[in-house]
Amino acid sequence: MKELRENVYWVGATDWKVRYFHGYELSTHRGSTYNSYLIKDEKTVLIDTVWEPLTDRFLENLSEVVDISKIDYVVMNHMEPDHSGALPTIMEYIPNATIIVSKKGVETIKGHYHKDWNLKVVSQGDKINIGKHDLTFIEAQMLHWPDSMFTYLSGENILFSNDAFGQHFASSEIFNDLVDETEVYQESLKYYANILTPFSKFVTKKIDQLKELNLPVEMIAPSHGIIWRKEPMQIVEKYYEWAQGKSEKSAVIIYNSMWGATHKMAEFIAKGLGEAGVEYKIFNTGTADRNDILAEVFKAKGVLLGSSTVNNGLLTSLMPLIEDLMGLKFINKVGAAFGSYGWSGESPKLLSDYLAKAKVEVIQEGLKAKYMPDDEELEQCIKFGKSFGEALLAKF
Ligand code: FEO
Repeated sequence: MKELRENVYWVGATDWKVRYFHGYELSTHRGSTYNSYLIKDEKTVLIDTVWEPLTDRFLENLSEVVDISKIDYVVMNHMEPDHSGALPTIMEYIPNATIIVSKKGVETIKGHYHKDWNLKVVSQGDKINIGKHDLTFIEAQMLHWPDSMFTYLSGENILFSNDAFGQHFASSEIFNDLVDETEVYQESLKYYANILTPFSKFVTKKIDQLKELNLPVEMIAPSHGIIWRKEPMQIVEKYYEWAQGKSEKSAVIIYNSMWGATHKMAEFIAKGLGEAGVEYKIFNTGTADRNDILAEVFKAKGVLLGSSTVNNGLLTSLMPLIEDLMGLKFINKVGAAFGSYGWSGESPKLLSDYLAKAKVEVIQEGLKAKYMPDDEELEQCIKFGKSFGEALLAKF
């Protein structure tokens, strides 16, 4: 248990050992937290719960500040199981309590748990008085599920934002001013890039609405990671910037190679990028973490994909990343493809087609090299990288 303010507590669970999320889809190198909050007023309110395997830890934290049977309201800002997993256990203590959900939350709570709990449905701007304080509900559809909402605690001026503004970051401290903010920002960006990017238009709209509401915000308390206490609106401004799809003048080369020929192409293309004055990073899909690569793609303007041709197709380790590129819908990117081959040589064309499907603007025809590139072909790789770099810079 930790105190945010008098009578407002963090009662969540810290998951130091989790290294994958959403099954095994999303890497979480720094662990995570499932943040749940308890407010004691004339009414006692619990905001969100934790992932089911950490229920015991959650119950211990909760019992330090409250008799669980005295909870009146459970606000479920979002029903994904990392926040609702402990709800069935909590409801065994308080079967007559009211669960507050958004309109879409009715479907998700019933869909996940099939229980006949007392639900109160709230809409944008609805308020509930809990004594000295009011709770105001702010719909946040598609940040990042249809049921997502924020809850604002007046008086203390705390915005409980659920997944938005969070990060997978386990820490012994809960406030941003007490941890290494560089690490927190790395994880916040990775979270945005890998989860929220497809919903950037909703992010922009929601932030505009939030600003129009003109609520004083003294803390932003998400459902993962640290609480933004020092300059809390900094993460809102950062989200706004990220949602616009602005890129750095840089490129990411992502490839895999069977015997080193495509690897060599990648390194010489990188030389050309350097000659054009474009900063770059190179990742091999066989060894680099996919979600880390995607965070780098999110930041960069250019994306170059490379693969040897095998069985008239691509090396398979590129495919999960390509699937994500198509699903995440990064905007304002330019790309090109390359790869070595022995006899058929389809890979650059296939990769260019995937880039186009991912709405990356393909600005150069793909580059091929047969077997191991010779000096002349390596020179072509440098030219390829340089012209790509120059075209990339011309987009700014
Ligand atoms: Fe952290 Fe959408 O769950």
